[in-house]
Amino acid sequence: MKNLNRRDFIGKTGLAAAGIMGASSLREVFASSTGAKKKVALVGTGVRGLGMWSKPVLAEFSDIVEFVGLSDINEGRLKYAQEYLGGNIPIYGDFDEMMKATKPDILIVSTVDATHSDFIIRGMELGADVVTEKPMTTDEEKCQAILDTERKTGKKVTVTFNYRYSPHRQKIYEILRSGDIGDITSVDFHWYLDIHHGADYFRRWHRLVEKSGSLWVHKASHHFDLLNWWLESEPETVYALGDLEHYGKNGEFRGETCRSCAHKHDCQFHWDITKSEHLTRLYVNNEKYDGYHRDGCVFRNDVNIWDKMAATIHYANKVNVSYSLTTYSPYEGYRICFNGTKGRLDAWIKESGAMERPAYDEIMVNYNFGEVEYIQIPQSAGHGGGDRRLRDRIFRAPESEDKYRQSAGSRDGAMAILIGVAARKSIASGKAIRIEDLTDLKPRAKKA
Ligand SMILES: NC(=O)c1ccc[n+]([C@@H]2O[C@H](COP(=O)([O-])OP(=O)(O)OC[C@H]3O[C@@H](n4cnc5c(N)ncnc54)[C@H](O)[C@@H]3O)[C@@H](O)[C@H]2O)c1
Repeated sequence: MKNLNRRDFIGKTGLAAAGIMGASSLREVFASSTGAKKKVALVGTGVRGLGMWSKPVLAEFSDIVEFVGLSDINEGRLKYAQEYLGGNIPIYGDFDEMMKATKPDILIVSTVDATHSDFIIRGMELGADVVTEKPMTTDEEKCQAILDTERKTGKKVTVTFNYRYSPHRQKIYEILRSGDIGDITSVDFHWYLDIHHGADYFRRWHRLVEKSGSLWVHKASHHFDLLNWWLESEPETVYALGDLEHYGKNGEFRGETCRSCAHKHDCQFHWDITKSEHLTRLYVNNEKYDGYHRDGCVFRNDVNIWDKMAATIHYANKVNVSYSLTTYSPYEGYRICFNGTKGRLDAWIKESGAMERPAYDEIMVNYNFGEVEYIQIPQSAGHGGGDRRLRDRIFRAPESEDKYRQSAGSRDGAMAILIGVAARKSIASGKAIRIEDLTDLKPRAKKA
């Protein structure tokens, strides 16, 4: 590949100047000048609650944030979380008790997906703004209930779409907005989960539609949110297909957990959780409280989600998207292409696999009747650097300029999951599903 015209990423995107890093808002100045810290509580002390929403928050924002409470249904995991976070944060088995005793300004929700709506709704009713992990929820009824409660209480829901914050995806957003490839007419978007990360969903609660909404919601809602954000439009109609052909009942043998399995020496998916002290203390040692096995067999007969999925999504601005998700690929990553009236943008991200990951992610822009441009974005850790930048936005500078419109609220959370909900309904009915039939949100051609 010839590098004909490489743009200077930092210079052109103004990443550092975008206000996310080091900027101060009135709210921030007020908080630090009066010494009043934001009171934050967390429900769901699993690996994400600890690794994304408490340990780093304590390390990065202790000047402006006070952690007032932790809650989880699993008593042992909750006690471990308290110890892991230094031993001082009060813990509550009862969520309402925590909310009433600590009165947090911000409640962070990082529980099992299907339970998010309970805490989002109750959290707002008890006076907090809510920051919830994706997916905002798992079906259209719960989605409507969240929207209704937000309107009723005047509190705010933020959905933590960290994928929007990676520099590479931000660069794609910027190129699309520049109009360089004209109006977007269609998108090809194909995501590959590998035989490690992809398989991991089939070990855990994610394998059950009733807990995760299936990967259409749990995983693909990340991708659907990216599409909604990149296109600055909302989905109108979804037609989908899906199968379970690899994991679950398709295995030649099965056990209950990898630890106890008679086939551990033959199974390519065998995984020894006890090699991680953190995961052993978080999950294995606390199985006695809820019977949950973090290292469940990927071939259990109760797996009821799809492992191969494809959808056609029609947007209100007339863009057609061809999407697929595969869960047993030899490498992890995605390919995306935006077809425009003046050219085409291609990106191919490889996050794992036999081939070494390059030091940069690339974007290729082909102009109709013109030249080709290659843009290289340096790699960074934590979902492409997105996790850290998202936390900065939420805790450090929530009201600073949002040049790339990366903050996401309940409408964004809804539009992302509703594509997945529509996909499930389309598979069940064999018909295309209209998003406007799912909640009271009417898809907009141009995002407000
Ligand atoms: N944005 C991302 O990149 C990203 C990455 C990983 C996970 N997540 C999200 O974070 C959330 C947590 O994921 P995880 O991997 O930490 O899962 P996990 O299973 O490790 O943790 C979930 C926790 O919720 C608790 N819980 C379940 N039901 C509860 C209830 N009714 N009341 C109180 N606590 C309850 C469990 O005991 C557990 O401790 C999920 O919503 C997931 O989708 C997001």
